[in-house]
Amino acid sequence: MSEIWLRRALPYVESRLLKLKEMFNSKFGSVPKFYVRAPGRVNIIGEHIDYCGYSVLPMAVEQDMLIAVEPVKTHVLQLANTNPLYPDFSTSANNIQIDKTKPLWHNYFLCGFKGIQEHFGLSDLTGMNCLVDGNIPPSSGLSSSSALVCCAGLVTLTVLGMNLSKVELAEICTKSEHYIGTEGGGMDQSISFLAEEGTAKLIEFSPLRATDVKLPSGAVFVIANSCVEMNKAATSHFNIRVMECRLAAKLLAKHKCLPWEEVLRLEEICRCLGISLQELKTQILSPNTQDVLTFKLYQRAKHVYSEAARVLQFKKICEEAPDNTVQLLGELMNQSHMSCRDMYECSCPELDQLVDICRKFGAQGSRLTGAGWGGCTVSIVPADKLSSFLANVHEAYYQRSNRSLVPEKQSLFATKPGGGALVFLEA
Ligand code: GLA
Repeated sequence: MSEIWLRRALPYVESRLLKLKEMFNSKFGSVPKFYVRAPGRVNIIGEHIDYCGYSVLPMAVEQDMLIAVEPVKTHVLQLANTNPLYPDFSTSANNIQIDKTKPLWHNYFLCGFKGIQEHFGLSDLTGMNCLVDGNIPPSSGLSSSSALVCCAGLVTLTVLGMNLSKVELAEICTKSEHYIGTEGGGMDQSISFLAEEGTAKLIEFSPLRATDVKLPSGAVFVIANSCVEMNKAATSHFNIRVMECRLAAKLLAKHKCLPWEEVLRLEEICRCLGISLQELKTQILSPNTQDVLTFKLYQRAKHVYSEAARVLQFKKICEEAPDNTVQLLGELMNQSHMSCRDMYECSCPELDQLVDICRKFGAQGSRLTGAGWGGCTVSIVPADKLSSFLANVHEAYYQRSNRSLVPEKQSLFATKPGGGALVFLEA
């Protein structure tokens, strides 16, 4: 196990680790051997383009998944969660089944576990007792599910005493999260492993690498939860977009026959690609998009190319840091939201309202973050306006409609670039 993973508890997780140790003891009657943390993320710009191969610009947040672990000799994997909403689960470590039809919490753990198991071609895995504690709001676009997949991947690697680089781990976890059924890109897993405190990252794919992007010191990034929950594995919205991008790329490659109409029927796509309906369904479409009859390829492609360009502009502005940096970055974020709303159709009325409220109370730019259709927004706010911004948005979006019932820390908070996944040997 490489040294990079081994750390004493960091101050902000110390008390949680001690609590976890106690709960672990009352649950399993023993003491954890080690702990793993993997953070969630906020995507600053570059939405729905990672699975097309384009670069994105996220940062890790402080909120994370923590797992207390004890390897056991029984070949049984026992999973428990500190949140009573998530029931205990146990299975044989040698026969991992992941049910794609139900996005149950433990399936995300199993994805990470299975990914490592398969990477090393192991059939006889040791069992373990694990207690999971997460404080990333679920279904909110802050990547709680990938954080759990990554955490489980690192847990499994540590139990096996094997070694992999962060890049390898990120790639394995990206692939293995597909067992859940959603065909996401690699942004969430990459930032969870490659994040470093104090800097956002430009994440590039094929080959995967992360480059520091220094955010402007005069601004703060604020996350606001629309309080509309969206689990991307529970509907086909996400995969339909992935299929639309896949089809658009194939049609563009055959550019001589481009019927760029607003909506394309399946038959027209097959005709242009010169393939049968059967081939389209088995070779291109995912299981949960088999019944889709029409696709909006033009709009989706337009979003992807313009968003990919905005990511690079964002990075360039951060590097050059002109006097009006915050304003320029804000404009790009606003354009990104518009494109997500109108071209990619992954917003919702509550997100649009929240973005408007954030801009009204001082954000230079505001946009949905993550998969969308609910979840959070991210806004760039001049540092000197932060406290009035928080107070006004709280009153306008949360208090007025009783949304303040959601614990405040999870609905509206300023965030800084946090560090990536780690293993702690002691609480
Ligand atoms: C989800 C996926 C990511 C990415 C975003 C949208 O978080 O897991 O790979 O596609 O949606 O940008």
